[in-house]
Amino acid sequence: MAPRVRLVGAVAGLSACTSLALVSGPWSDRRVSPEQRAALLLKNMTLEEKFAMLHGPATGPCCQCKTSASCAYVGNVAANSRLGIPPINMNDGPQGFRDDNNPGTTTAWPSGMTIGATWDLDAAYEWGAGMGREFYEKGSNIQLGPGLNVARVPRGGRNFEYISGEDPYLGYWMAQSSIKGIQSQKVIANAKHWVQNNQETNRDRVIEEVDERTRFEIYYPPFRGAIVGGVGSFMCSYNKIGNHTSDYAWSCENPVTLKRDLKTLSNFKGFVMSDWGGTHSTSIMQGLDMEMPSADFMNEDRLKAGISGGTITEAAVDDSVFRILLPMFEVGVMDEPLSAWDWNKLSSNTTNDASSASARSLSAKSTALLKNDNAILPLMSGDGSSIAVIGLADGGAVTHGGGSGTVVPSFLATPLSGIRGSVEKKEVLFDDGKNITTAVALAKQVDYAIVFVGTLSGEGSDRDSLSLDDGYWFKNQNALVSAIAKANPKTIVVASIPGATLMPWSKDVAAILTNFMPGQQAGNAIADVLFGRVNPSAKLTFTIPNRENEQNFTTAQWPGLPSKNPVYAEYSEGLLVGYRYYEAHNIQFDTGFPFGHGLSYTKFEYSNLTIGADWQTTFQVTNVGKVAGSEVAQLYLTFPASAGEPPNQLKGFRKTGLLQPSMSETVTLTLVHDDYSIWDVTSHAYKPVTGTFHVKIGSSSRDIRLQAQKNEAEEEIVV
Ligand code: GLC
Repeated sequence: MAPRVRLVGAVAGLSACTSLALVSGPWSDRRVSPEQRAALLLKNMTLEEKFAMLHGPATGPCCQCKTSASCAYVGNVAANSRLGIPPINMNDGPQGFRDDNNPGTTTAWPSGMTIGATWDLDAAYEWGAGMGREFYEKGSNIQLGPGLNVARVPRGGRNFEYISGEDPYLGYWMAQSSIKGIQSQKVIANAKHWVQNNQETNRDRVIEEVDERTRFEIYYPPFRGAIVGGVGSFMCSYNKIGNHTSDYAWSCENPVTLKRDLKTLSNFKGFVMSDWGGTHSTSIMQGLDMEMPSADFMNEDRLKAGISGGTITEAAVDDSVFRILLPMFEVGVMDEPLSAWDWNKLSSNTTNDASSASARSLSAKSTALLKNDNAILPLMSGDGSSIAVIGLADGGAVTHGGGSGTVVPSFLATPLSGIRGSVEKKEVLFDDGKNITTAVALAKQVDYAIVFVGTLSGEGSDRDSLSLDDGYWFKNQNALVSAIAKANPKTIVVASIPGATLMPWSKDVAAILTNFMPGQQAGNAIADVLFGRVNPSAKLTFTIPNRENEQNFTTAQWPGLPSKNPVYAEYSEGLLVGYRYYEAHNIQFDTGFPFGHGLSYTKFEYSNLTIGADWQTTFQVTNVGKVAGSEVAQLYLTFPASAGEPPNQLKGFRKTGLLQPSMSETVTLTLVHDDYSIWDVTSHAYKPVTGTFHVKIGSSSRDIRLQAQKNEAEEEIVV
């Protein structure tokens, strides 16, 4: 017998479409904690009602069906009209609201990796809040993002979606801020893809073999940062996970990663949904809480059979439902009017002047200046110089990656239009770059040649190479850049890239900017940077290699052996991921650029380093140049050799405010327990290391300005 609940506010004669009457019970009292409210509501649910929350549509289409509320979004969980529980309407993706079906605008924001390049927690929050607002206005209460996986494989097809880049510490903090932004809009964020989804090749069957210490020190921190940021949901991934023994299991039924590592050791209180089709059994006892997009395994029949067969407990069902209800109360989904989650909102226009301005500002903040010989940049808009814009600057401009994370822009500000809109006198000449001879002829005639290049990647496959000439229809890009550089000494390259990309011509051109996957405001944002309206402050979150496979991956490491079922990918590099590998092998940069690198139109000096007994590290950053700018100061830590850690690891960063010429800012970065610890696989916890550490402060991983030694016992050090 269903427990009785009070119907309040129900108005006689409501039309069928508002059949979800306003229902309230003791769980509606907002003075009560979200935990208590979730418990009160759970207590009023029947077992069948609980089952109904653990999966997508059991019959009919699962998603983006255009025909009814039950399947309108990418992920759908039915409402409970008796108790007034709203529908759960989930949608992609990590760079904006993806809608392949309905009219109505939505903003194509910069991608996760792009926002990561700001190293700016406020920017990450702004990005999250801007996207979250649009999800809310589309009637969606779960955003399937941000993507958090560390970019272990330079050719990874989804690196562009992931905010962490190569570094767990950066990911930890940027995840936190972006999730707070999303959830500030009453939309639950989703940390994905948990875990070890570090490649796309064979993603639906590869066994990612990675030891516990590497998981906790390299791959888990961005997700643990998400938990600190209050993330309401996780998405378990397609792959299998093993630890060099035969105990491997599908990610969505792996009790080690789901129950021990995530829910126990990382104290995650929200719920885990599967990736779409990533459920392989009724794995509620192994830690899965919700099957997406359908109900092949986590359905009533199988759950009931498990309970009657003693393999599934009702307590486990209650725990999963509680984990779903809790973020719905915490984030505010339950306290919105039911009309907030009406699927008819899918056709609303959510792009507005504010979102366009924010997308523009964020794209400019995430544009990195890699080279600027003789301060050729910024350009002067009114000096009458002649400019040729060449290559992917018009219709073919690269703005977003492929797959479920794609957001087709509601409009596109092309680089050509952005530059033309910034030049007062001289006209801007254009050549699409397809014919190198004509492009070179044009380049010879002008003062500045700006060459736009780019490539793409997407879900489901890794990149064929790190070359600009792979991944996009526009070929011979490297030859084009080299030819233009020979024709004009004032050649500027703007590269729109989905991750690590070779730049064999980098020594031949005068300046290089990268805007990664910039979104729909690409053109206005790059013009803001080119003409100095925005002084670039972004930093690389991954290494730009000198050559292909510079980290010497064997096939066993990636994409894995044997090339049949099962496929084992051995994380034999351990902790030496990305720049950690470059540091450990002291690889110098020729045509590539190091992790953390990014120039400014001004210059910064560092001084007065002190390190307190409590690891409080302070120093000063001074703008010694001629224009205002912000600097991302970075702290790298070298452990005592006995710790067996990589030689230099990011353990602190701070983007300064906008410093006027000769202005200084005192930066304080404090290392906390886990920062000077290593993961101990016996106690399954971080264990502090004793001995002498090196603290290095700089403008990139290879541009160290201050350094000092310290051991945990030492008092204050002043350098
Ligand atoms: C996909 C992706 C995931 C996405 C989901 C829904 O296969 O891996 O990131 O959110 O399906 O489209």
